[in-house]
Amino acid sequence: MLNCAVVGATGYTGAELVKILLRHPRVNLVALTTRQVTSIPLQNLIPGISKKNSLEVRKFSFPEIQQKADVVFLALPHTEAMDLSAKFLRVGKIVIDLSADFRLRSSAVYEKWYGVKHQAKRLLPKAVYGLPELYRDKIRKADLIANPGCYPTAACLGIAPLVKDGLVELDSIVVDAKSGVTGAGKKLNPATQFCEVDENFYAYKVGRHQHTPEMEQVLSEAAGTDVRLTFVPHLLPLRRGILATIYLKKRAGVRASKVRESFEQAYGDEPFVRVLPDGEFPTLQKVQETNFCEIGFTSDPGSDTLIVVTAIDNLVKGASGQAVQNLNVRAGFPEEEGLLR
Ligand SMILES: NC(=O)c1ccc[n+]([C@@H]2O[C@H](COP(=O)([O-])OP(=O)(O)OC[C@H]3O[C@@H](n4cnc5c(N)ncnc54)[C@H](OP(=O)(O)O)[C@@H]3O)[C@@H](O)[C@H]2O)c1
Repeated sequence: MLNCAVVGATGYTGAELVKILLRHPRVNLVALTTRQVTSIPLQNLIPGISKKNSLEVRKFSFPEIQQKADVVFLALPHTEAMDLSAKFLRVGKIVIDLSADFRLRSSAVYEKWYGVKHQAKRLLPKAVYGLPELYRDKIRKADLIANPGCYPTAACLGIAPLVKDGLVELDSIVVDAKSGVTGAGKKLNPATQFCEVDENFYAYKVGRHQHTPEMEQVLSEAAGTDVRLTFVPHLLPLRRGILATIYLKKRAGVRASKVRESFEQAYGDEPFVRVLPDGEFPTLQKVQETNFCEIGFTSDPGSDTLIVVTAIDNLVKGASGQAVQNLNVRAGFPEEEGLLR
């Protein structure tokens, strides 16, 4: 059994992590933490928990986690993970960070897009990007796993095989993605209050969303050369899920059968990616509350446009489910452990 701690267990991704880890057969939850002084019974945070479960979310204590945990999940806002990751690594813990603090290889790029100084630059070369479908071998040996962003997960899974196999042009990729409101976290934000979101639908951070460089980094590594893209995020009046519609330009002579081959080759053996049959496209309902990414595509023979549609649950494959998938890869457990019903 592996002893795990969740720091930031009261937030959306933290609570989702706790839900998943509670049903993981090889994990003991040894510490769940908050900044709040008063302890919170888990039953108040997660509906449907057994009356016998006496776990509490308690005020963060470094010595307690140092003493009890082998693996520490950080489910904190960005910037909050830098210092803590360094401290936990120093005392020999495996850190799985759900924030953006260690996802970008360049501190200059981080500082440009997040508008804050990176306080733990020297750890960046140690961090492994936690998208198992692309970086599994590195994750197996990593002590600092940078769990991907939700939009980058949905976008990169739909694009990476195509750029790797040279099937699409690299200068005209458009990612038009829509997310449920939990994607913005639990903290108060006027733009995500009920009356702003209910019966509404809008694009935000157009051309300046901080997930853009993360997608470009992953896709450039897959392509072996620089990839730039256009990304427009939208807010859906729903609680959870991301649906990304991706427009790509096929290279001359590329047929639909090649695209299917590329996806099948990349994901045929992947436990959490489903490539749908021709003519079928993902819906949010099929992926909500699951760790699956579904991919559908169409390629009109009369045009050079390829349209790929992907869907994930932002809190599961886009965050906490993927974090547990990374734990499974790192610990050598079956990758589906705790993640299937
Ligand atoms: N939401 C998503 O879909 C999603 C997807 C992928 C990645 N992420 C990333 O995962 C991390 C957690 O996201 P989330 O959506 O779970 O956020 P959240 O709902 O806002 O929760 C974050 C938790 O961190 C704790 N916290 C500690 N220091 C804090 C501080 N200085 N300011 C605010 N909260 C602080 C808070 O708990 P206490 O108040 O109890 O201390 C809070 O509940 C973020 O870095 C986010 O970017 C989120």
